[in-house]
Amino acid sequence: MTQETLLTGQVLSFARSPFEGDPTAATVVTEAVLIRDGRIAATGRAADLRAAHPQAELVSHGQRVILAGFVDPHVHYPQTAMIASWGKRLIDWLNHYTFPQEMRFADPAHAADLAARYLDLTAAEGTTTMCSFCTIHPASVEAFFTEAQARGQRVVAGKTCMDRNAPEGLRDTAQSAYDDSKALLEKWHGVDRISYAITPRFSPTSTPEQLAAMGALWAEHPDCLMQTHLSEQTDEIAWVRELFPQARDYLDTYEAFGLLGANGVYGHAIHLEPREKDRLRELDAALVHCPTSNTFIGSGLFDMAGLMAAGHRIGLATDTGGGSSFSMLRTMAAAYEIAHLRHHSLHAAQLLWLATVGSARALRMDDKIGNIAPGMEADLVVLDLASTPAIAQREAEAEDLWEAIFPTIMMGDDRAVAEVWIGGRRVKS
Ligand code: GUN
Ligand code: ZN
Repeated sequence: MTQETLLTGQVLSFARSPFEGDPTAATVVTEAVLIRDGRIAATGRAADLRAAHPQAELVSHGQRVILAGFVDPHVHYPQTAMIASWGKRLIDWLNHYTFPQEMRFADPAHAADLAARYLDLTAAEGTTTMCSFCTIHPASVEAFFTEAQARGQRVVAGKTCMDRNAPEGLRDTAQSAYDDSKALLEKWHGVDRISYAITPRFSPTSTPEQLAAMGALWAEHPDCLMQTHLSEQTDEIAWVRELFPQARDYLDTYEAFGLLGANGVYGHAIHLEPREKDRLRELDAALVHCPTSNTFIGSGLFDMAGLMAAGHRIGLATDTGGGSSFSMLRTMAAAYEIAHLRHHSLHAAQLLWLATVGSARALRMDDKIGNIAPGMEADLVVLDLASTPAIAQREAEAEDLWEAIFPTIMMGDDRAVAEVWIGGRRVKS
């Protein structure tokens, strides 16, 4: 007989985007969610679902909030062990900390160890899907997909391609990047819950020949996502201008080589020119806001309000380990703070939407994950809104759900993540 599980609590889902009209009116709160065969079978009143499914295992969460699992659309799992490295801005940070760390992934055993460590750490934070850069080593992709597959987890990742401005031992070629990416894509894309993303690191570390090879591969597999970095720091943009003197702007270094499209996922996107914004919007490419990274590396203040109002598709990400946290709660807090520096107050419903539906939309997976509705995959997080004394004493003063949840967004960590379900299986309790 099919196993059913009934979770009760405050089940929070989104009927529409909270960036259109009253944010709270975009949400729906019900009492229970029924899981069957790894998917959400129903939501509704606890008594009704209990009566209709008396054989279901009951997991009662009282006043805890049950949400779709967090979706993190821009991470570097190989940077797990170098998170919070001190004192450098982007290019020096890459050369000094990142590249030596990524060199270690030549060893498949190291890659396997770090893939498992990263997925353990993020599961504890309630992140159930992520889109990760790997390293230039195909074994780094194998390790990540093998570990995610064993956990039944929906993930996206790709071999990071670099054929210049990186040290010996961390460079591929245009041809090998194409061949290795293609082989990995053909082996893994669409297997279980795994998707491949074509992954040129960023324009400065690829020759025009390599960018063209990546563009050709994307043209052969247009259903794949393509992930890269765009306009993160002003020094980086100046360097791109030197390296590509013929390009109109940073985005043009991708556009000219077939690396701009509707399935493109562009990390950071802070210092955009008007033409770049127009073109990204016109093609409905996704932008990913990485707030803890943007403050930690000193990159700048993403224009959430302006870009949302213009109709961009936007996700919210940790950017581990340029970002200073594995936690999407901490990331929402940083997004709130950055928006506030730009004189815009993001509502708790908007922050939660960005970390779930918005990020799933950025990955074009919002038909499968990121929300709680019948037919969606059963990736869930259960939040304890009184996880520490400091949060509990503030939550006790709250007059509604939004005031109760905001202290957990601003001050919460893995202790607030009471339970996590991936594909209908409990992975944290
Ligand atoms: N730009 C190119 N590579 C990276 C990276 O690993 N992290 C960040 N934050 N930016 C990048
Ligand atoms: Zn990144």
